[in-house]
Amino acid sequence: MDIKKGNKVTIIGAGNVGATVAYSLAMRGVCHEIWLKDRHSDISMGKALDMSQAANVARTHTVVKVAHEASDLKDSDIVVITAGSPRKPGMSRDDLLMINAEITKQVVLDVKKYAPDSIIIMVSNPLDVMTYVALKVSGFPKERVVGMAGILDSARMAHFIYEKIGYGAGQIRASVMGGHGDSMVPLPKFSTVAGVPLSDILSKEEIDEIVERTRHGGAEIVGYLKNGSAYYAPAKATALMVEAILKDTKQIHPCAVYLDGHYGYSDVVSGVPVALGANGVEKVFEMTLTKEQEKQFENSVNSVKEMIDVLKNNKFFD
Ligand code: LAC
Repeated sequence: MDIKKGNKVTIIGAGNVGATVAYSLAMRGVCHEIWLKDRHSDISMGKALDMSQAANVARTHTVVKVAHEASDLKDSDIVVITAGSPRKPGMSRDDLLMINAEITKQVVLDVKKYAPDSIIIMVSNPLDVMTYVALKVSGFPKERVVGMAGILDSARMAHFIYEKIGYGAGQIRASVMGGHGDSMVPLPKFSTVAGVPLSDILSKEEIDEIVERTRHGGAEIVGYLKNGSAYYAPAKATALMVEAILKDTKQIHPCAVYLDGHYGYSDVVSGVPVALGANGVEKVFEMTLTKEQEKQFENSVNSVKEMIDVLKNNKFFD
């Protein structure tokens, strides 16, 4: 496929996450046009105008527009899907399964029809399953459907490491793989502070606490916000993926992708390190895991497979 020109990014769902993705991209002038598509046209209109004006303040060339019709998706280089019911307090990501699978299906059918050459970045929860749904419903090659989660979860872990040690802000590299759910797999052995292994800085107990807090990092914020979930870090993580694809950076990030024999799994989506470029997912990296990490990854993959099975049993894909 040709290198993307970076002209048009469409964001479906202009709630907190979608709008903040648009704002992040507009402030950096990552693309020429951002289109917002939402059930609430007036709110999208207001946000689009506000952001276009902000782009003028920032002196970037990005213009934010509103997609009123599905046909407005045409010529999108990337479609970011954030549409879905948000997680409410006490609700697990999995509770959202059926509701969001139906919403995703409708949206993806429009993408398939009007933007058949685009790359889909999935953000709606439960993330790994929705990425699988987007892949199956679109029929796109697996390189062109990718889910956001690993960048977010790794950033959360990095911040929790910072809170524990009190130094090294911005120099912490944390690593998380597996699904974006309570069984995600934080990898302290692959985490460093300015190159110093985490295990040389913190005790096992302290690291365990960080791992636990990372697994529930989304819920911690839901607990404070009461009526919604996190959006600044999820949006920034998504914007980073958009930028890597549009600028063809080939940077390596943990993302949710279709496993096709990778790590021994097939017909499932999970978070693993991948290189992102103009063609989408350009390479999947297979790390050597310890026995314990393998086991945790297996649990995480299985929890995604169980949800996919629920959809299959409900004839969702028929
Ligand atoms: C989070 C939820 C929304 O991680 O998945 O913030």
